[in-house]
Amino acid sequence: MKGGVRLYRAPRGTSDILPREQVYWRYIEQKVANVCQLYGYERIDTPVFEDTRLFARSIGEETDIVTKEMYTFEDRGGNQLTLRPEGTAPVCRAYLEHGLHNLPQPVKLYYIASIFRYERPQAGRYRQHHQFGYEAIGDGDPALDAEVIDMTWQLFASLNLHHLSLQLNSIGCKQCRPPYLAVLKDYYANYARDLCADCKTRLRRNPLRLLDCKQPLCQQIANSAPRSIDHLCQQCEAHFDRLKKYLGLLALPFTVNHRLVRGLDYYTRTVFEIQPEEEGAQSTLGGGGRYDDLIEELGGKPTPAAGFAAGLERIIHNLKKQNVPIPALPRPQVFIAYIGDEARDEAVKLASMLRRAGIAVIEAFGNKSLKAQLRQANTLGSRQAVIIGEEEIKTGTVILRDMTTSQQKPIPISQLERELR
Ligand code: HAM
Repeated sequence: MKGGVRLYRAPRGTSDILPREQVYWRYIEQKVANVCQLYGYERIDTPVFEDTRLFARSIGEETDIVTKEMYTFEDRGGNQLTLRPEGTAPVCRAYLEHGLHNLPQPVKLYYIASIFRYERPQAGRYRQHHQFGYEAIGDGDPALDAEVIDMTWQLFASLNLHHLSLQLNSIGCKQCRPPYLAVLKDYYANYARDLCADCKTRLRRNPLRLLDCKQPLCQQIANSAPRSIDHLCQQCEAHFDRLKKYLGLLALPFTVNHRLVRGLDYYTRTVFEIQPEEEGAQSTLGGGGRYDDLIEELGGKPTPAAGFAAGLERIIHNLKKQNVPIPALPRPQVFIAYIGDEARDEAVKLASMLRRAGIAVIEAFGNKSLKAQLRQANTLGSRQAVIIGEEEIKTGTVILRDMTTSQQKPIPISQLERELR
């Protein structure tokens, strides 16, 4: 508190993205747009909030996201709404709402969006974060899974991020998962007393999630648990085999990880994640997979689909950690300085004239000394300063100063634009 006035801060688990950070965001957005274009994806933007039931239905009533993490509220009209805790369900909703099943399939859509989850904030885990993601809706071919994974791998390569691993698993379908879960529960029944409190609940409510518990003892138990890939039905097994074959053809270095199950319930068959080679729980850069039943669950015809999403904050953390060079954003290179009131009038006109001609400039303001104005130009990284004084006004010239060499020369105003280009 300062003088009785409250100093406001950004809400816990949220951040301001200051100008000096924007360079990372533009870098990622541009790479995402480039790679999506290469693979035939088009951009979609959906509302920040949706009907709460859309998320409960698709992500799963027993998941952490739905039971503990959603920002849900009732609006003044009595509607139950939720700030989007992920991007896949809204895209599927839009696909159905706008009849996109009438287009050639698969329909390929990508997004960059803010995501809201009420989590315990810590490094790499925020209450508002940002994801880019893509969804290919309307085809069940394992070659599509391979394409989504290939695109993901190419995207991380184009970001210049290294030391990543591609973790892969198949968690089966409506037919083969229930018998697998029964086997899994049988196995875990022997260890019920050793499990952490969360896993005791998972055993009853969401046994697949037992496999990705981060507690050391639970991890030990999970390591020897029955593997989903040993309990796939014939079709799921054939799908997984073909996917692995395609990944081999594409020379993508994947690791089958039988403990990879993902935190959302809509997945069928393929699941995959991109992880940094080191680091722990909060470090997964992105994840995705197939979700062949989701569109039907949301009221559409049976429509297979696959997709992926990654967290921008975690990518930026890794870009910094790996010292990846990021190209600077363009800024004005010309600074306009003046000496005296009359020259200030000229400076105002000149700045406007140059901008109208497409040259970005920064104007000095106030009554600073020339020295102070040039210091400011230096701090801003301007390459050239245009200086206007009384003498210059009389002669229709300006002084052009090279900020690196400090060399100055007079130039007629009529030639300034050409000189600056
Ligand atoms: P997800 O694994 O829940 O998947 O989130 C994707 C990525 O978002 C994570 O790998 C992580 O990088 C980032 N992320 C998640 N939660 C947080 C957080 N609290 N703070 C910072 N970053 C976070 C999905 O959301 C699925 N919709 C992905 C998908 C698309 N599956 C198919 N299509």
